[in-house]
Amino acid sequence: MASTHGAEVLVASNRGPVSYEVREDGSLHAKRGGGGLVSGLSAIGPHTDAVWVCAALSDADREAVRRSPGGRCLSLDATGGQQVRMLDIDATVHSDAYNGIANSVLWFVHHMLYQTPLEPVFDAEFRRQWASYQAYNRAFAEALAEEAAEDAAVMIQDYHLALAPRMLRQLRPDLRIGHFSHTPWAPPDYFRLLPDDIAAELLGGILGADRAAFLTRRWADAFTDCCHAVLGPGIPSGTRIGVHGLGADADFLRGRSHEPDVDERMAALRAEIGAGRKTVVRVDRTELSKNIVRGLLAYRQLLEDRPEWRERVVHVAFAYPSRQDLAVYREYTTEVQQVADEINSRYGTVGWTPVVLHVKDDFARSLAAYRLADVALVNPIRDGMNLVAKEIPVVSDEGCVLVLSREAGAHEELGEDAITVNPYDVVGTANALHQALTMPQDERAERTKRLVAAATALPPAQWFLDQLHALDPHYSS
Ligand code: G6P
Repeated sequence: MASTHGAEVLVASNRGPVSYEVREDGSLHAKRGGGGLVSGLSAIGPHTDAVWVCAALSDADREAVRRSPGGRCLSLDATGGQQVRMLDIDATVHSDAYNGIANSVLWFVHHMLYQTPLEPVFDAEFRRQWASYQAYNRAFAEALAEEAAEDAAVMIQDYHLALAPRMLRQLRPDLRIGHFSHTPWAPPDYFRLLPDDIAAELLGGILGADRAAFLTRRWADAFTDCCHAVLGPGIPSGTRIGVHGLGADADFLRGRSHEPDVDERMAALRAEIGAGRKTVVRVDRTELSKNIVRGLLAYRQLLEDRPEWRERVVHVAFAYPSRQDLAVYREYTTEVQQVADEINSRYGTVGWTPVVLHVKDDFARSLAAYRLADVALVNPIRDGMNLVAKEIPVVSDEGCVLVLSREAGAHEELGEDAITVNPYDVVGTANALHQALTMPQDERAERTKRLVAAATALPPAQWFLDQLHALDPHYSS
C-alpha cells in the first residue's frame, strides 16, 4: 500500500487547520484555525511534502470534500498551501466517536470529571459507540496509510485517535509513528473505571506508535503507570515515551496583539471596566475542566470578605461556547451566566459592573483582555497544559500576576513564579486573588519576567520540530 510519491510528514487530528462555511451565493469560504499545531507544522516550511488528515466537522466541510478534486486532497490558500485531507466520515459514526466516546468518556476520564450524579455507565449503548470510535480511528489509519510515503513520519494527535497508531502500524510497518496527548493522562485507579478490555485496547492503540509523547512528565508517568497496571510490567512494544511542553508563540502574540482591531477592543473594554480599576482576567472555552464557576465564586468571596475591593476591581471573564452538542456543556454554560449575573446584581452599582462576562468568541478581544490584565486567573480542575497561563504574561502591557491551579500542566513550568491554588478551594482562591491584587509592583515585574522566560522556552515551531526529530533524526532542527 505504500505510495512512493506520498507525503514525508503527516499530521492527523480530529479538528483540522481549516473549516468551511457556505456563503449565500453558494460559494465555499475556508477559515484557518489557530493553535500550536498549526503554527508548529508551518515551521517545517515548503521543503517537505506534508499532509494533514482531519475529519469533516460540519455540513460545509462535507460539501468542501465533495467539491474537491477527486474528493481527496484539498490544496488551499487558507492553509498557506498546506495539503489537507478531510475525511467525510459517516455523521453518526463521527458523532458517536467524537461526542460519545472522545468527549463524554475519554475527556472525562483524563480530566477526572466524573462525579455524582454524572457517573460512567458502560452499557450496550456505550459498546455501540465504541464500535464507531474504532471505525473512526480505522478511517484515519487507512487514509494515513494511503497518503504516506515510504518511511514517512506520522504524528497522530490526541484522545480522539488513540487506536489509530496500532491500526496504522498493521497497515504500514515501514512508517515512523508518533502519538501526542494534549490532555492530562488519568492515574491508574481512575483510568480503570473503563472496562478492562477497553482500557487495554486504548493503551495498546497508543503503544502501536514508536513514540508516545505528553505535555508534562506527570502525564507521561501516569500513562506508563496505567500500562503497568492494565497490561502488566514493562512496556511490551518498546514504545519510547517523550515529554514536550508546548510554549507560547511570543513573536506571533506580540505582533498580533498590537494590531488596530485589538486596540479598538481595548478601548471598548476599558469603557466597560471603568477608569482606575484593577482587572482579574480569565479566557477559556466554557469547559467543565476549566472550573469557571468556582473561579466566579472565589471572586464573589473576595468581594464579600474584603469590601475594600468593591468598585476597585473588575473580573473580565471570557467563556466561549464549546461542545454545545453535549447537554452537560450547555448546562454549564447557563450556570456560568447565572453566577455572573448573580454577582452583578448583588454587588454591582450604577458605575461598576463587577463581572464583565463575554461569551462570543473573539480572538482580538481576548488579546485586548490579555493586555489589560493585572491578574490572570487560571484555575482548572485538570488541564493538559493551559496555554492561556503562558500567553497572558507574555502579552500583558504592565506585567501580571498569575493565579494558577496546581493541576494545570503549565504549573510544572510556571509554578514557582505563580500563586498556586487548589482548584476546589474557593476561599483559598479568593485569598490568592487578594494576594495577587496587592503584590508590590517590583515583585510583579520580576515574577512576570521569569514567567515569560518559562512560558516561551519551547515555541510551537521548536516543539513540533523536536518531536519530528525524535521520531526521525533525518529532520534535524
Ligand atoms: C482542547 C484540548 C485538546 C483537544 C481540543 C479539542 O484544546 O486541549 O486536547 O484536542 O480541546 O477541542 P474540540 O473543540 O475540537 O472538541
